[in-house]
Amino acid sequence: MRGKFITFEGGDGAGKTTQIRLLAEALERARKTPILTREPGGTALAEEIRDWVLHHSSTVDPETEVLLMFAARSHHTSEIIEPALESGHWVLCDRYTDASYAYQGGGRGVPNHVIASLEAIATRGLKPDLTLLLDLAVDAGVRRTGSRGDRDDRFESEEFTFKERVRSAYHQVAANDPDRVVTLDASRPIDEIYEKIKNLVQERFGAPID
Ligand code: TYD
Repeated sequence: MRGKFITFEGGDGAGKTTQIRLLAEALERARKTPILTREPGGTALAEEIRDWVLHHSSTVDPETEVLLMFAARSHHTSEIIEPALESGHWVLCDRYTDASYAYQGGGRGVPNHVIASLEAIATRGLKPDLTLLLDLAVDAGVRRTGSRGDRDDRFESEEFTFKERVRSAYHQVAANDPDRVVTLDASRPIDEIYEKIKNLVQERFGAPID
């Protein structure tokens, strides 16, 4: 049976990493053999692109940036995500196409129809079965990531208004696809958020997890 594809989205500091880990551990206990991956990244080539686009390319223009994101996504989708789903694994992915609508679309101003064309090429129509949007006010996210230091990337160091645009683009993504995208209040305690995620996964996929 084909596996489920679950993606996690949100601004920096929203707590995606923790929630992915908690869900992965529960799926392991339920013998669902989840595969954890991330974007940009997930293959050697896509990780190289990640390194460039997040850390080295301060002069990269928005069009180049969006093409690099989708080049990484194309490779990741065909090499890792599709084969894993096909062989029955559940794939938990830290960001996917919605992040491009939020960051390159909302943040950088790349038009949605451009992103949609690239999406069709790179994902071959693959959509997550469920997307968990961890929504957090920008100032709260900045406070949380403030202590990370060396993990700072080109997006984390963007100005407040950029992050506000990213957040509202995420809200738009959720409004456009309400069945797939579930928005969760990321200011709530970790275990409360996880409880919601667990219940959602159980309801939608009939997977008994604890
Ligand atoms: P992030 O997922 O926050 O990783 P970490 O937890 O290590 O900081 O970092 C990835 C960054 O890449 C994030 O700031 C958003 C950005 N990004 C895009 O701009 N577009 C995309 O399509 C994706 C997947 C990520």
